[in-house]
Amino acid sequence: MSGDYQLVQLANGEKTLFSASYGEKMHPGLGPQAEAELLYVRQLKICERMQSGAGEFVIWDVGLGGAANAIALLKATRNIPGQLRLVSFDNTSEPLEFALKNAAALGYAAGYEDRLAELLHNRKVVFQNGKLSVNWEFHLGDFPWLLNSEIGNRKPEILRPHAIFYDAFSPAKNPAMWTRPLFENLFRSLDPARPCALTTYSRSTLLRTTLLLAGFFVGVGHATGMKEETTIAANDLRLITDPLNQRWLERALRSDSAEPLCKPVYARAPLSPATAEQLRRHSQFQVSIEGVDSAKT
Ligand SMILES: C[S@@+](CC[C@H](N)C(=O)[O-])C[C@H]1O[C@@H](n2cnc3c(N)ncnc32)[C@H](O)[C@@H]1O
Repeated sequence: MSGDYQLVQLANGEKTLFSASYGEKMHPGLGPQAEAELLYVRQLKICERMQSGAGEFVIWDVGLGGAANAIALLKATRNIPGQLRLVSFDNTSEPLEFALKNAAALGYAAGYEDRLAELLHNRKVVFQNGKLSVNWEFHLGDFPWLLNSEIGNRKPEILRPHAIFYDAFSPAKNPAMWTRPLFENLFRSLDPARPCALTTYSRSTLLRTTLLLAGFFVGVGHATGMKEETTIAANDLRLITDPLNQRWLERALRSDSAEPLCKPVYARAPLSPATAEQLRRHSQFQVSIEGVDSAKT
């Protein structure tokens, strides 16, 4: 929707984008710069993983929006010699255009305005970011649809990720981005031989059961601003410091909002008997029964 975005000031003085159609702010806790760095870049240990690995490091930036997460990544990695492929997805370029027009007020994009303009116009930009070679693509389209067509396609065009920033609007306002079929497709689109971790700001039981049932291992994520916890998921348990354990499972089995969304309509419901059984059998909880897991909830 054109004219959807406005600039708003948070309690700490930081400015961010507000979408009138979703009725939500981007990075409402600490603001674009600090939240992006803490929740996505640091939590996923991007710098450490890039420094210790060889070859191109691939990151999917789901919900490019005003590119705050992407720019926090570029700032944090500029002194790492190597190659980064940043693959951003959004179904509109309006927040990016808005962020670029308001770059001075927002502050976080300083020094990257020309790269953003090129990305906006050409859907890709290749450049040297300090010691790092960057290849940045922007896939404009509906993410659930794109994933479906990628999976149907035997030769995927989009490189498989090592890390995913998952930053859609909330499940209540943007349910199409939080369904079980979407996360099953996302899990299927990973390379099983390439450890990949995903973070997102939500800690809801519904999100965590959805990720588990889609095939991911799931853990407690760092606190950020107003949130005591966020969520980290991975296809390799070694990427998760604090996996959800039996105590979390017991609470999920009693929760009144834990059943994954099977279609893009938000609904709160307890786990059905069949889903509860699938969750109990997840290998993450089999490990924890053997006492390998920590006592953290
Ligand atoms: C919270 S904002 C992202 C903020 C952004 N990561 C940043 O750092 O500025 C959520 C984004 O998800 C996008 N989005 C919502 N539904 C989508 C869909 N079906 N496919 C792709 N993107 C979608 C919105 O257009 C919006 O830009």
